[in-house]
Amino acid sequence: MKTSRAFFEPLAVGAPAPYRTLPVCLERMIHFVPPHIEKVRAKVPELAGKVDVVLGNLEDAIPADQKLAARQGFIEMARSTDFGATGLWTRINSYDSPWMLDDVLEIVPAIGDRLDVIMVPKVNGPWDIHYLDQLLAQLEAKHAIEKPILLHAILETAEGVENVAAIAQASPRMHGMSLGPADLAASRRMKTTRVGGGHPGYRVLADPDGSGGAPRGSYQQDLWHYTLGRMVDACATAGIKPFYGPFGDFQDPDACEAQFQNAFLMGCVGAWSLHPSQIDIAKRVFSPDPDEVAFARRILDAMPDGSGAVMLDGKMQDDATWKQAKVIVDLARQVAEKDPELAATYGF
Ligand code: GLV
Ligand code: MG
Repeated sequence: MKTSRAFFEPLAVGAPAPYRTLPVCLERMIHFVPPHIEKVRAKVPELAGKVDVVLGNLEDAIPADQKLAARQGFIEMARSTDFGATGLWTRINSYDSPWMLDDVLEIVPAIGDRLDVIMVPKVNGPWDIHYLDQLLAQLEAKHAIEKPILLHAILETAEGVENVAAIAQASPRMHGMSLGPADLAASRRMKTTRVGGGHPGYRVLADPDGSGGAPRGSYQQDLWHYTLGRMVDACATAGIKPFYGPFGDFQDPDACEAQFQNAFLMGCVGAWSLHPSQIDIAKRVFSPDPDEVAFARRILDAMPDGSGAVMLDGKMQDDATWKQAKVIVDLARQVAEKDPELAATYGF
């Protein structure tokens, strides 16, 4: 274990000092772009105005013979686009692939000063973060990059879930974590073929009601609840951000919305959008509901110093509900700064 003082030391002479607190950014959706496709790249400037984060994907879903084109396409896209306040991320290839090292060695020197976050797939433990942490510090120093490039781990191996807290706390470079339900399902040998969401076979059957043969109610359960809960606690403890990851059934926006909504209610701040139709779903879900914001504002107004107990509409409020209300109102203010339409619905 590093001492607390050493934890915040730059890992190379000349590298920027690690952040002590994360930059405040709205990241409701991380929109995935395949950068080897020129037609897609051409639409990135327009896309950048519509999403909170644009991510150039280099890993899974990019064919092996297009890996170098994707890397070059990402560099070109980063150079030629003004992203403004929109985040620019990349998902590099996994550590055990032939591409990962050159992803980092080529991208950081070329556009490291524009890159906010590197998403790292298949993180198994804190050692995976330490490796990239050191390498990035050396590259930042060598190329005079002024702000630290952050790391975002995908939680998508059984071993990663075992080590989730240690991963979250591995470095001040940690930005957050996303659930990767497809790889995680494979790693756990779950018997599914889906990218996120529920499964009709995973359900609880109601007790027989004694009426002799009447059909028994049964309810689908959330396959991801346990992992999401562990991830949210690990991230909150470390002061980093949890995200739900991909939802692969583009024909089922309702199920996508339900999965995002569960993640939002459990503490996640955003999700991936893999298809343009998922951008608005994420925006809707990860921006707080105006009625909820209105009620939260009433709680804050009713308890100006955040202590004591009051009744609102028959519901008890105290110091703890004041803190819950503050989470919602703070998020609403952050959303309102970016989105004038939502600002109006929140009454700011
Ligand atoms: C994402 O990378 C996943 O495997 O679900
Ligand atoms: Mg994956």
